Amino acid sequence: MRIGVFGAGNMADALATQWARAGHEVMIGARVPARAEALASRIGVRAGTLREAARFGEAVLLAVMYPGVHDVLAEVGPLEGRVLIDCTNTFANPDFAVKSPNGAKGIAAAVPGAHVVKAFNLCHESVWRRTPPEFDGRPLGVPLCGDDRGALKVVEGLVRDLGCEPLRGGGLDRAGQLEATAAFVVGLYVAGDDPATMLPPLEFAIGEPRPADSAG
Ligand SMILES: NC(=O)c1ccc[n+]([C@@H]2O[C@H](COP(=O)([O-])OP(=O)(O)OC[C@H]3O[C@@H](n4cnc5c(N)ncnc54)[C@H](OP(=O)(O)O)[C@@H]3O)[C@@H](O)[C@H]2O)c1
Repeated sequence: MRIGVFGAGNMADALATQWARAGHEVMIGARVPARAEALASRIGVRAGTLREAARFGEAVLLAVMYPGVHDVLAEVGPLEGRVLIDCTNTFANPDFAVKSPNGAKGIAAAVPGAHVVKAFNLCHESVWRRTPPEFDGRPLGVPLCGDDRGALKVVEGLVRDLGCEPLRGGGLDRAGQLEATAAFVVGLYVAGDDPATMLPPLEFAIGEPRPADSAG
């Protein structure tokens, strides 16, 4: 499929590289044309303006720093009918406070007719560069939050293109939870603690059915 990318930084690089490798047509768009061209030529895809990337993509990836998000959305023009993948976060070290708890809802409000899916915000860009992002023999799970079934299906495919497994994160109302999860988890990583150790495997997560529960 055709994918437009807004931004020419680390996340744009990591994900565009993977999708180009998987056979998608990609156009990098950035506010500074030379930066879009430098990334695009390095990974062998097209370059354009932000607006050209918006027109090019059936799906678009929003990969800019939070303070620039709404400027970029105003610049790209209409995105009606497009799948917009929002990988942005609004928290930062050292306080990990989420600056826009409903960021993805705000993004959806700014792009009427686009189908926003929050995804890829939970892991460091270096993780998305791995081929595949797999640890201890298990593919990485990638939670998705979105309201449109068709858009979720598209992003599920793009997740699988990386060798990852999509996880059902519910509607866009829950995108704030996903960012808060990212903020909390990154805080643990930065403290030198492994968040994976706080999560029991699925089969132990909600306990064994008790006799009273199964008696009907
Ligand atoms: N890095 C990670 O590990 C990671 C992981 C998960 C999620 N994220 C999220 O992904 C997004 C991108 O992160 P990144 O690491 O790719 O950042 P980055 O390497 O710093 O690149 C940021 C991109 O955003 C553009 N940008 C910044 N402000 C802008 C503005 N006002 N108008 C237009 N473009 C603007 C930059 O353009 P210029 O070059 O012109 O400044 C650049 O292309 C962020 O929201 C971040 O929170 C990052």
